[in-house]
Amino acid sequence: MIKQPRHFISLQDLTSDELRTLIHRAIELKNHRDPEFQPLKGRVLAMIFEKSSTRTRISFEAGMAHFGGSALFLSPRDTQLGRGEPLEDSAKVISSMVDCIMLRTHNHDTVTTFAQHSNVPVINGLTDLLHPCQLLADMQTYFEQRGDILGKTVAWVGDGNNMCHSYINAARAFDFRLNIACPDDYQPDQSIVASAGDKVQFFATPEEAASEADLIVTDVWASMGQENEQKKREIAFKHYQVTERTMQAANTDALFMHCLPAHRGEEVAAKVIDGPQSVVFAEAENRLHAQKALLEFLICR
Ligand code: CP
Ligand code: NVA
Repeated sequence: MIKQPRHFISLQDLTSDELRTLIHRAIELKNHRDPEFQPLKGRVLAMIFEKSSTRTRISFEAGMAHFGGSALFLSPRDTQLGRGEPLEDSAKVISSMVDCIMLRTHNHDTVTTFAQHSNVPVINGLTDLLHPCQLLADMQTYFEQRGDILGKTVAWVGDGNNMCHSYINAARAFDFRLNIACPDDYQPDQSIVASAGDKVQFFATPEEAASEADLIVTDVWASMGQENEQKKREIAFKHYQVTERTMQAANTDALFMHCLPAHRGEEVAAKVIDGPQSVVFAEAENRLHAQKALLEFLICR
């Protein structure tokens, strides 16, 4: 019988136990790097990027190299995808030649359609709706610094965007409380919120959301593809910057995270992102370790 591939399009594609195991594996891979350990020797990852990337591209590419495999960078501009070859055909063809496919796209449906027609695991490397890979790194960072996040409180400040949606999914999967403070017109998707039940609560200000929080998280005000809304968003979000005052409202040992790239003076004050509670660079490095754990989980089954 042909084994169906497992995909990672949303955190909900893995059970809570699988996610926790994956986080612990990422920590183990980070702390005990063995160059002789090459479980993906001869394996190939195809990476399709409709949008820019620094961390996602480098972490997947370096991760495959560490594991003895290789990664292909494909942009729609240079492939037939950009000339209208159907997604379904592209998924069948590409998945007949490689062992795993990662996509970063605008439309979330592009990734789900691709997965339906792929014979190998498909990874969501960010869509307009979700960014689950980033959550693996964020959870790894929290676990490393403070232990399990179960029962803790996380505050999300800013846009109800792809990162916010993945935090909502994470609240359900990892069992933490998520306090959200977003401007009225930039609230997260209601069906994603509803799926998290009582894990999510909404607050009017960043300080209220941050009250007694263990982790404060934010992201850019204008995501990729929203560049022409920058000015309008600067006005809508001006009271949603994570400042020292926001951090003071949180627990004294609270951490600050941001998936990066960041805009100092917009969504976060320089004193916060460059301050003692910020773990953004450990978080960025953990993209590599979390990606390796994910690749091993999906490809070596
Ligand atoms: N955080 C993140 O996904 O970064 P890149 O856009 O650089 O991949
Ligand atoms: N919300 C941001 C995340 C970038 C990693 C975006 O989609 O551009």
